[in-house]
Amino acid sequence: MAITVTPRHPALGAEIRGIDMRRPMDPETFKAVHDAWMKHLVVVFPDQPVTDQEHVAFTRHFGEPEIFHQTSLHLRSDRVREIFLVSNVDENDRLMTPAEPSQKQLSSSRQWHTDSSYRTTPSVGSLLHGIEISRTGGITQFINMYMVYDELPDGLRREVEGRKARHDFGMLHKLVGNPPPTKEEAAAMPPAWHPLVRRHPVTGRKSLYLSSIYNDAIEGLEEGASRRLIEELSDFAAQPKYMYRHEWEPHDVLMWDNRCTVHAVTPHDPKERRVMHRTTIVGSEPVMAG
Ligand SMILES: [Fe+2]
Repeated sequence: MAITVTPRHPALGAEIRGIDMRRPMDPETFKAVHDAWMKHLVVVFPDQPVTDQEHVAFTRHFGEPEIFHQTSLHLRSDRVREIFLVSNVDENDRLMTPAEPSQKQLSSSRQWHTDSSYRTTPSVGSLLHGIEISRTGGITQFINMYMVYDELPDGLRREVEGRKARHDFGMLHKLVGNPPPTKEEAAAMPPAWHPLVRRHPVTGRKSLYLSSIYNDAIEGLEEGASRRLIEELSDFAAQPKYMYRHEWEPHDVLMWDNRCTVHAVTPHDPKERRVMHRTTIVGSEPVMAG
């Protein structure tokens, strides 16, 4: 079946129509979808009321789904363990309050980041299914980090070339004021160092690789200077010309490339239900320096 691809923003983001995610994809369709994804970085499949099992099966076309390592906050589904819950409603249908640890941890996603960058082989991409969407906010914003790298001012470029940043899952609890991870949890996910400029294994293009909610150190810089550089780079990146803002419709499935984009969600009324299920595609190789 031929798909249609319609760009939604000049920098990144396109919608793909003409597929049913619940059905198997033939190799030709897969190639067309994959090509569109590599070209537009973020693609939306509108009107896909998939079950979690169908969501996971579709994800497997692109790679192995990640199993989230942290279980204490129940952000990993107890029903389908490949599903990460981006929700303020728990699996017993209880609306949670912003003060609960899981909600505090999720609130970190209002800052620019890329999923699972704290792994030694970080994630390839993520697929997020909007089941109950927000009308008071909850817009997911994406930045094209190829363009950001290409247009970096010389001063910032000199700061990032050939340098690595540390990505630590343990940063999250400090950021949001949750109790620290247990010894076992910390040992299960030690910090990882990745180049600030990376080369995409498929497109060959260079991009800036940041994840401000996990980055707690930059090679050769003091803590304060590291922080300032991450902030300066994030501020430069967050310009409308590099950004697609996704306003959700029920049963949109959004698929993005974690290797060349960052994302952040806008706040929404916490009394409004927001239920979204995510799969994350495991990376199979270390980050290639650009
Ligand atoms: Fe995220």
